[in-house]
Amino acid sequence: MVEQEGPQPGKNSGVAAIVLAAGKSTRMRSKLPKGLHLLWGRPLLAHILEALAQADVTRRIVVVGHQADAVRATLDARYGNGVLEYAEQLEQKGTGHAAQMTASLLADYSGDVLIVPGDAPLLSGEVLASLIAAHRERNAAATLLTAVLKEDAGSYGRVVRDSHGDVVAIVEARDASPDQKLIREINTSVYAFSAPRLFAALQDLRPDNAQGELYLTDVIRLLRDAGETVGAVVADDEEVALGINTKVELAEVGEKMRRNILRKLMLSGVTIPDPATTYVDAEVLVGSDTILYPGTHLRGATTIGEDCEIGPNADITDTLIGNNVRARHCVMELAEVGDRCKIGPYAHLRPGAILKAGVRIGNFVEIKAAILHEGVAAGHLSYLGDAEIGERTNIGAGTITCNYDGFKKHRTVIGANSFIGTHSTLVAPVVIGNESFTAAGSVITKEVPDGALAVARERQVVREGWWIRRKREKEAQTS
Ligand code: UD1
Ligand code: MG
Repeated sequence: MVEQEGPQPGKNSGVAAIVLAAGKSTRMRSKLPKGLHLLWGRPLLAHILEALAQADVTRRIVVVGHQADAVRATLDARYGNGVLEYAEQLEQKGTGHAAQMTASLLADYSGDVLIVPGDAPLLSGEVLASLIAAHRERNAAATLLTAVLKEDAGSYGRVVRDSHGDVVAIVEARDASPDQKLIREINTSVYAFSAPRLFAALQDLRPDNAQGELYLTDVIRLLRDAGETVGAVVADDEEVALGINTKVELAEVGEKMRRNILRKLMLSGVTIPDPATTYVDAEVLVGSDTILYPGTHLRGATTIGEDCEIGPNADITDTLIGNNVRARHCVMELAEVGDRCKIGPYAHLRPGAILKAGVRIGNFVEIKAAILHEGVAAGHLSYLGDAEIGERTNIGAGTITCNYDGFKKHRTVIGANSFIGTHSTLVAPVVIGNESFTAAGSVITKEVPDGALAVARERQVVREGWWIRRKREKEAQTS
């Protein structure tokens, strides 16, 4: 017996996919087209495009229309020019009309074609692959993915079956009879079709429905009436194909996806004490035995190594973090943090902050476009911008690099094993050598050579008995 272990790589090669994304998304009430709304760092459309890639489809055709240029530009920036194909639907006359727009691209294509909506980001590659497998097994003209909802099926299209349990039609909610409205098996808008039979049936669509549109769903009835095989796969999880039509649904689907993302991380060994207050984008990577404490937000292309403690309250975007890092109450963006660094509380790493291994950044320290080599410590109240700081140098509390002269940014370079005294003001461009020392409160404007002490402050003046004399004078005046 052949073992069946779910979808195998390469098995679905030759499948083309059509993503319907031309709609006006009126119900979103937004300037942004629906497919470009972000869900955990990824546009809605990219979620479905990733699932298609996982299901091993060989061509991905996106039907664009409303704000086509913006959709195309965002997707091409992400995937590269020429990776996706586009079909344009100039007027949005329904999902069937949208599918018709791909006819010329697929004119010479006789394989299977998957059609998916652009607004169902929970669909997984696994589910899509199993739909294709079921479709091929029966050699069907069409196979649809359905879901049985626990409660009322709302605005979804209803799946109508005959007395043998075979699918005969999909009826849109607006066109359904009161009896049909009670059906809880819904059309997910995910279908596998034999391409030639799909395009033949699409030509017979008529807009005789409540919206006056060409419905893709009517293809099912047409194929069935023509005696073709129409199959259906019922999704195990009723939520896989939840569609987003409003911002309420964006939040609801987003919440489910957030839980899925955290679940995957926990199953891979990440510790998350409070999933209710932990937020991780879809493409973030986290190593095992790292703990994400409450209030942690990991965004964009962030990668975190093993055995780290992140949070409570960390907002980290597009940042690379090594192993054994501790980062509490901090904000990081486009930064790099080496192994064994300790960050925070209340630290801010801005773009271009590069911390090598074992660096310590303490309370109210801000770092921008600066390399801090291994073992540097900046414990308190500093701004280090446009700088390079050598190994094991200690930055005293309140040290500021004055990098901006009102016109241009200038660099501060500090060597290794140096000691920058408390409240040093480093006026860039300036170079401080290795094993050198700046006295507390100095304003450093000139180079400090290796091994030197630089004192750049007023000498202290002491006037013996001055204060007591002054007090006595005042007291004499008022008595
Ligand atoms: C559609 C299905 C419905 C199903 C539901 C699942 C139809 C007629 N109805 O309804 O049976 O239960 O999805 O979520 O197919 N689009 C275009 N061009 C158009 C119209 C729509 O490209 O002219 C795109 C939209 O951008 C969207 C997708 O098709 O990504 C689905 O359109 P939408 O308006 O959301 O359909 P639903 O009302 O959700
Ligand atoms: Mg929809």
